[in-house]
Amino acid sequence: MTGRFSRRAFAKINLGLEVLGLRPDGYHELRTVYQSLSLCDLLEIHSAKDLSLTVSGEAVPSGEDNLVMKAARALQRHAGCSKGARIALTKRIPTQAGLGGGSSDAAATLLALTRLWRLGFSAADLLPIASPLGSDVPFFLLGGTALGIGRGEEVFPLPDGPLLHLVLAQPRAGMATSEAYSRLSRRLTEGRQAPRIASLVQALVEGRLAERLLFNCFEEVNLEADEESAKVRRSLLDHGATVTLLAGSGSAWAGIFPDRESALTAQRHLVPRGIAAIHTSTLTRRDYWVQTTPSGAKE
Ligand code: C5P
Repeated sequence: MTGRFSRRAFAKINLGLEVLGLRPDGYHELRTVYQSLSLCDLLEIHSAKDLSLTVSGEAVPSGEDNLVMKAARALQRHAGCSKGARIALTKRIPTQAGLGGGSSDAAATLLALTRLWRLGFSAADLLPIASPLGSDVPFFLLGGTALGIGRGEEVFPLPDGPLLHLVLAQPRAGMATSEAYSRLSRRLTEGRQAPRIASLVQALVEGRLAERLLFNCFEEVNLEADEESAKVRRSLLDHGATVTLLAGSGSAWAGIFPDRESALTAQRHLVPRGIAAIHTSTLTRRDYWVQTTPSGAKE
């Protein structure tokens, strides 16, 4: 393949997130249910002799520190390939929000460069490269609804959850993943585990997901760390959300709305009040793969 093509990198939330304890390797053992969202970043890839990256949108590093460049370098090493690419990343997924934006960009880079460089790797072949890049990067090689165990890198497909209409709202302060884990770690109690994730997985398998089954163990630490967190959450409920759920380790909240119209109305009311609010919805695994290439994109 020559020239240029585009790829979407979708965000995620966690329908359930339970941290069991600290592991000898310094990571936390967790049980989670990942869920893809239609909110996405956009990658444009052009063939080029050298590897380079430009970023627009959110303020994230554009050099070798960006996960996109780390993914590209890791793929070069894995494949013994010295080909290049000019990558332009448009950020739309808020950062330090728990929405997996950087990890999704990394996975999308692995898939896009595999194609550009004609390496012939499947998404499953890319799993060993994805996991050292970040604990949730492997999920983005699967998409849809999935169970994550270990440090989050061991992923298993689940039946698609129901279509949920969401508004994501983020306090001004982000929450670094490492900080969220270290705050949570201080309050973990050994041996006190309610297996909440099992009920959630069972409900998904039986096609009867209920809002009361959604949970995220990072909610309290976010509410304690930043007083704006509670205000943002409250504003989602005041504007019609039936339930709220923290995204990943924070700091964004997802409000679940009865339908698309009510979610859009809430977003329209929240933005003029100074709350960064984004309307989105959940994505099935099929749509995750069908919609990766934007319509009208040049191949
Ligand atoms: O894997 P990732 O690079 O995304 O993790 C960022 C940080 O979050 C880690 O350095 C660690 O502090 C924390 N983390 C953790 N346990 C996990 C995942 C992440 O402690 N399962």
